[in-house]
Parts: sequence; C-alpha cells; structure tokens
Amino acid sequence: IKRITTHILQEMKGRGEKISMLTAYDFSMARILDAAGIDVLLVGDSASNVMAGHETTLPITLDQMIYHASSVVRAIRRCLVVVDLPFGSYQGNSSEALRSAIRIMKESGAHAIKMEGGHEIRESVARILSAGVPVMGHLGLTPQSIYKFGTYSVRAREEDEAQKLIEDAKLLEACGCFGLVLEKIPADLARRVAEALTIPVIGIGAGNFVDGQVLVTHDMLGITKDFQPRFLRRYAELYNLMQGAVEQYIRDVKEEDFPNAQESY
Ligand code: KIV
Ligand code: NA
Repeated sequence: IKRITTHILQEMKGRGEKISMLTAYDFSMARILDAAGIDVLLVGDSASNVMAGHETTLPITLDQMIYHASSVVRAIRRCLVVVDLPFGSYQGNSSEALRSAIRIMKESGAHAIKMEGGHEIRESVARILSAGVPVMGHLGLTPQSIYKFGTYSVRAREEDEAQKLIEDAKLLEACGCFGLVLEKIPADLARRVAEALTIPVIGIGAGNFVDGQVLVTHDMLGITKDFQPRFLRRYAELYNLMQGAVEQYIRDVKEEDFPNAQESY
C-alpha cells in the first residue's frame, strides 16, 4: 500500500481530488478507518470531550495526546496521522512549542502536528517547521479559545474577522504549513481561502468549496448523541445500536440463555 504523505495531499489538491479526514483516538477505531481508506486521521484534542468527558478541549495534556497518538499509529498502514498540540503546550513560547512537537513525533510515531491560531503563533509554527516537523494550521472556530469567543457559533461572519482570517491563512502558508483546517465559518469565506492558497484547506462546518472535509468520527457514527450542529451528517446511529446489543446481552445473562452449550467447554 502506498502511504499518504503531505506531498500526496498537495497533489490531490492540484488535481481536484477531495481529501477525506476523520478523528481517531484509539487502536481499534483507527484500524477500521484506515482499512476503509481514509486519507488523514486526526488525533484531535477533541479526545478531551469524546474520550475523557470534559466539557472543553482545554484539560487534555500532552502526555494524554501522546498516548492516544501512539495507539492510532500502531493501527494504521496507509493514512497520514496528524496530532493536535494541546492547549498550553505551545502558546507560551516557541522553544516550548518545539519541545512539545518533538515529544509527539518521537514518542508516538505520528507524521505531523496541528495547532490553532494565526499570526500570534507564527514563531512557534516556524520553529517547529524548521525542525522538519510538518505543521497543519487551524483557523475559524478554534475550540482552545472558546472562553475568548464565549460561544460555539459560526466565526468570521463580519468582514474584519474574515479579513484577519484570510491574512492568517496566507501567513500560515508562507510559513510553510502543509495544510489548513477551517472550522465553522461561512462557505463563501472558506472558498476564498481555498482559492487563495496552494496548500490543501480542509473544512468542518465550512461548506463544500474547500479541498477536503473532516468530522469527529464519534459524531458522524452517531456514538455521541446530544451533539447535533447543522454541519454534522450522521452516517450511522451506533449509540442506539450499541445500547440495544448491550440490553440483549443483559437479558441473555439474566435469563441464563448465555452462554449456551456450544459456548461452553
Ligand atoms: O480536535 C478535533 O477533533 C479537531 C477537528 C474538529 C478539526 O480539531
Ligand atoms: Na482540535
């Protein structure tokens, strides 16, 4: 199998082939997603919500991200693995940012890192890139800044925030980022960014005029139940399926149906 690289993602944008990306935090799920042919797996700091049950992405630690990332890396054969730098591991200064990125690359075996923000993190981005670590940007609704925004609603509806986002996107490309995630912004703005950049732009809640799409796997599979934003398409209802299976198991145990003779030694 030919492995996906950042260069292949660039070629895909060049020929207009859309890039598919999903989150993964563990071995078993990453196996399934890689076998299905996903192009990019993101070990997102959404693990803080989905795996650990926190309300925001802020509490997850670098050690925990490395644990998730190393589990994912052991499962995959083809896809590119990108890992979020968690809140607090890169905002302070560029040498701390570089140290965090190197720990992820060394200890997990992942292929790239992602970080939230534009001009305010440009030194850290440049320093990590100069160490040979591919960096993906993330602009728009950046969840690590949720307490600054105060709400999870659509970003950059106003022209001043849209202008800043376009400038930040160009800056991240100029720094040498291999790709950019745009989260929850108007489709027209995402189109302008995707057209202005030569690097692939991956959207989540950013419309269909970008170079690829990313969703949180547990959301698109319907494992999480109460999260229903407009941008989310559910491809399965696994919460109900799994609860039903477990209820059946409980009944079978209580009624002494399980295990039967064939299931016994
Ligand atoms: O952590 C995450 O899952 C993400 C995606 C939503 C882009 O950053
Ligand atoms: Na994230």
